[in-house]
Amino acid sequence: MNRLELCDLEVAYEGRQVLLVERARFEQGRFYGIVGPSGAGKSTLLRVVNLLVKPSRGSMHLFGSEADLSSLSYRKGVPIQRKMGFVAQKPSMFQTTVFENVALGLKYRKVDKESIRRLVMETLELVELSHLSAQRAQTLSGGEAQRIALARTLVCEPELLLLDEPTASLDPYNISIFERVIQTVHRQKGTTILMITHNLPQAKRLAQECLFLYKGRIAEWAGTDAFFQRPATSELRDFVSGRMIC
Ligand SMILES: Nc1ncnc2c1ncn2[C@@H]1O[C@H](COP(=O)(O)OP(=O)(O)OP(=O)(O)O)[C@@H](O)[C@H]1O
Ligand SMILES: [Mg+2]
Repeated sequence: MNRLELCDLEVAYEGRQVLLVERARFEQGRFYGIVGPSGAGKSTLLRVVNLLVKPSRGSMHLFGSEADLSSLSYRKGVPIQRKMGFVAQKPSMFQTTVFENVALGLKYRKVDKESIRRLVMETLELVELSHLSAQRAQTLSGGEAQRIALARTLVCEPELLLLDEPTASLDPYNISIFERVIQTVHRQKGTTILMITHNLPQAKRLAQECLFLYKGRIAEWAGTDAFFQRPATSELRDFVSGRMIC
């Protein structure tokens, strides 16, 4: 992937600016935690990177090439999007089996049938749900569905994994499996990971670097230890100590 770099990025809704990033550079193979109060622009940032939101201006360097985000066509965006994976807070399952849900991305990529079977089963084993492959996805528990949503993303081996509060509604058991899987993928495949979380101990456990988004800006960015132990701004100090409300 080499690096992900955002430059002069602005997102505004009905004239209200919600995100302004002069420059942000994410290195290949690093695990980044993104934290900040509600409404700070965290999801907007990931959605811009995933080409789900078109900014009013800005460019992105990714997978070795530069794209002007405000004018990028759908056709040119698809191959870029296919190298990324996105897992949101709430999983949405297609009305078919668990196996077919996980196989979908590989089918779009015209992978042969035998490889699909092997890759899907390997990925289901990774998330510890291979025994449910024939079950209707609609009948899964919330925690199981989220692990299948992760498997559906990982089976396509994304170079960049975008996670938007993926464990926010999971119980501790499912959280621990989810965390173990993404740590394994990060270590073994060198996947670059950007993960939004409101769970600060989780950011401490997983991330190598953390970003603090505040009022649409990246207010602070540091190695995880320094980020939590020596916050440079009063806003981050208030946030990590639970004093900041909005
Ligand atoms: N489609 C939209 N139309 C109008 N405003 C929007 C839209 N999407 C997001 N916003 C606004 O942009 C701001 C940033 O939203 P965003 O979802 O990025 O916040 P967030 O940091 O992810 O918050 P949370 O932690 O609650 O998920 C919010 O004020 C939100 O109301
Ligand atoms: Mg959000």
